[in-house]
Order: sequence, then C-alpha cells, then structure tokens
Amino acid sequence: MKITFLGHASLLIEAANSSILVDPFITGNEKASGKINIQDLNPDYILVTHAHQDHVLDVETIAKASDAVIVSNYEIAMHYESKGLKAHPMNHGGNWKFDFGNLKYVNAIHTSSFADGTYGGEPGGFILSTEEKHVYIAGDTALTMDMKLIPASTRLNLAILPIGDNFTMGIDDAVSASNFVECDTVLGYHYDTFGYIEIDHDLAIDKFKNAGKELHLLDIGASMTI
Ligand code: NI
Ligand code: MN
Repeated sequence: MKITFLGHASLLIEAANSSILVDPFITGNEKASGKINIQDLNPDYILVTHAHQDHVLDVETIAKASDAVIVSNYEIAMHYESKGLKAHPMNHGGNWKFDFGNLKYVNAIHTSSFADGTYGGEPGGFILSTEEKHVYIAGDTALTMDMKLIPASTRLNLAILPIGDNFTMGIDDAVSASNFVECDTVLGYHYDTFGYIEIDHDLAIDKFKNAGKELHLLDIGASMTI
C-alpha cells in the first residue's frame, strides 16, 4: 500500500488496484496547489471524514472529472448525491466491503458543517483494510477513549493522526492516541497549513521517538509504502 501526502489532511492511497483519495483540499492550500495538480488525480474513491472546507474543497471537481464514488457519513453522501455525484453513505461503527477491501467509519470528536453552515453529519475517521494492511485515518479529532476500541478488532500497520493542535489533537495527545490504537508507526497530518497549526517538526519526531514510536512527516507529494 502506497500513501502519498497531498498537503494538510489530503492523502492518495493506492491499494489493491484502487486509487483512494482522502479529504482533498489542494486548490485552496497554497502550500500544495503549486505541487499537486488535481487534474492528475483520477481516484476510484474519495473518502471524506467531515464537511469542513479544509477537507471537502476539491471533492466536487475531482468527483465530476473522475466519476469517483464519494464515501462519507450519510449527510455528506446525500449532499453530493443530490448534486448528481456517486456516493456511498456510512455511519459510525459501520463496515462495508469495497473492491479494494473494507472500510469502517469510526468515531471522531470534532464538528462537521459545510462552508455555508449546513449540517455535515457527525465527523468520523476510517479504518481502511486490505487483505494485507490495516490503516487508521483519524480525521480531525481530539484524543478519545473510543480509539481504544480499534485494537480490540484490528491490528493496525499505520495510524494517520492529526498533530497540528488548536483544531485537533496536538503532538502529545497524538502520542497517547498511538498508544490507544496500539500502533507505533504514525503518519502525521493536519499541520503547518495555516498559522494556528504550525508545529516544530524535530520536536514532534523526538516526542514520538522517546515513546518508542516512529513519526513520519512527508513533504507534499512524497509517499511512503507500508
Ligand atoms: Ni475540521
Ligand atoms: Mn480540518
């Protein structure tokens, strides 16, 4: 499984012959828009964790061009379906088998409204499982005890956690989250995009290292393989 960081909370996951885009916010992110061309993205699926603009900005454009299936909570899925796009609705605790593997929509503590203020359902994260690998995509969330439920059913290979603080967990809580989900390999996201969430990279990496863990921070456009 190959995971490419597209800036902020945007990811491209290539697994089991499918291309899975997560929370595309590229044209509005000046750190990413010069490096990533959304016309080059041709996903089969677009996973959306919640309705905030920094997670959905490019969903419509990319879904129209690629005919991708948008997978999100019920309200977000219906929002896009009413615009004529393909969508698969889920809700917390639910699993569905897609052609690449299984997705489970899991709890996140955050909010979820569209830019115009309309209700975007309840925010979540995803556990993406192929036959070989299991990845937790936390979405925007606080540290929550619910994370302890994940290792009860799933042995994760990678936890993708927000680390930027202010709107989500910061670094210390993300270290605790990686304990809760029992996964020592972490990809950090949702940091540095704007002033509120700028972090000290070396400090973040050291804090995970001191806890016996490895924090990956990818340049925009860079990939890791698990
Ligand atoms: Ni958010
Ligand atoms: Mn966000």
